[in-house]
Amino acid sequence: MPSSVFEPLELTNGKTLKNRLVKAAMEEGMADAQQRPGHELCGLYQRWAEGGVGVIITGNVMVDSLAMTGPGGVALQADADMEAFKRWAAAAKTNNTQVWMQINHPGRQVYKSMGGKALAPSAVALDLGKHSDKFATPKAMTEAEIEDVIERFVTTASQAQKAGFDGVQVHAAHGYLLAQFLSPLSNQRHDQWGGALENRSRLLLEIVQRIHQQCGEGFTLSVKLNSADFQRGGFDIGDAEQVVAQLEGAGVHVVELSGGSYESPAMQGRTADGRTLDREAYFLEFAERISSKTKVTIMTTGGVRRLATANRVVANGVELVGIASAMSFKHDLPNIWQTQPDYVAVIPPVNWKDKTMAAMATMSIIRRQLVRLGRGKAVQKKPSPAFALIADLLSKAKLTRRYRKLVVEG
Ligand SMILES: Cc1cc2nc3c(=O)[nH]c(=O)nc-3n(C[C@H](O)[C@H](O)[C@H](O)COP(=O)(O)O)c2cc1C
Repeated sequence: MPSSVFEPLELTNGKTLKNRLVKAAMEEGMADAQQRPGHELCGLYQRWAEGGVGVIITGNVMVDSLAMTGPGGVALQADADMEAFKRWAAAAKTNNTQVWMQINHPGRQVYKSMGGKALAPSAVALDLGKHSDKFATPKAMTEAEIEDVIERFVTTASQAQKAGFDGVQVHAAHGYLLAQFLSPLSNQRHDQWGGALENRSRLLLEIVQRIHQQCGEGFTLSVKLNSADFQRGGFDIGDAEQVVAQLEGAGVHVVELSGGSYESPAMQGRTADGRTLDREAYFLEFAERISSKTKVTIMTTGGVRRLATANRVVANGVELVGIASAMSFKHDLPNIWQTQPDYVAVIPPVNWKDKTMAAMATMSIIRRQLVRLGRGKAVQKKPSPAFALIADLLSKAKLTRRYRKLVVEG
């Protein structure tokens, strides 16, 4: 077992990563009006690459420009402007860094204010208490819509490969469409796409098999999967173990384990079922259990702020360590740890009573730093959560208006 995240790692497809630290996906909301990566997004990725991380996973890129997780997101379809995506991949590959594009479909996790499509396995709306009415009511997907989504994932993966990305990560966690199919709470279908786990996982399996067939063994194929939904009656660790075994058979090289959804934000360390997660590597226990039973490379993301924690993850047999939030304040955290191994990354805490608002403000603070990094500026030393949240909401409102025009035209 390696004792350091700075040891290289060879994946099962023969690709070598220079170290085991991965910048995990963070949706930046920085796309241009045509949903393409522009100058600032390339600047941000160049800085991360120079910062010493082994792999960069992009923020989620949508497979359908009319089904977006948020305004200002990137979409990659058959008719894409490939030059923009080539520049993005090249920036991220600086300094011998590998870059994998995360590809996603939001399913029912779509803001009502945005319009566009809100598809789901079943017509079951999100339950977010007093915040539920902010989300669209989904429509149960037809067979034709399911086939369309499969083709879109394959097309986006193939386009990413053509643009020079080293791989893709299919997002099947955090309550988005593929996670909605996996969970018996949101998937109440009685056909071949619902019911038993082998039916609920069929859509994910179809997608990864077809990407593997289309893009070949040399193109790294990853899946982000919940170790559990952390909701009573939802997708659980036993289900995750079985799905990882299926993914291994389907040619997947790396599985990133996370957890939760909008309804139960375990990826931020809070669960709806009140379970306590490992304080510094939320899903480590689950990841250890799964990694002992599979040949697929396992990665876990959530809560890592210290090198000692990252090293503990690899020493326990989990090969890759994902870091998201901390990389927004220290884009060069891996380089810093090489010379200052005791350095602790700090995300400014937001201690508001309303936990949902506090989590939103934290996300706003983080996104603000991403924009600054992309513009070549220094990150803020003491960001104001209230100011960041208001500025973010105003910017979202503007981006939503821009996106709605696209929906009308599209
Ligand atoms: C601003 C922000 C945007 C995020 N966007 C994504 C995303 O696009 N895809 C994804 O899989 N996870 C996303 N996440 C979740 C992270 O990848 C990660 O799982 C989570 O933040 C826990 O890791 P951390 O404690 O290192 O931040 C996002 C997190 C943040 C803070």
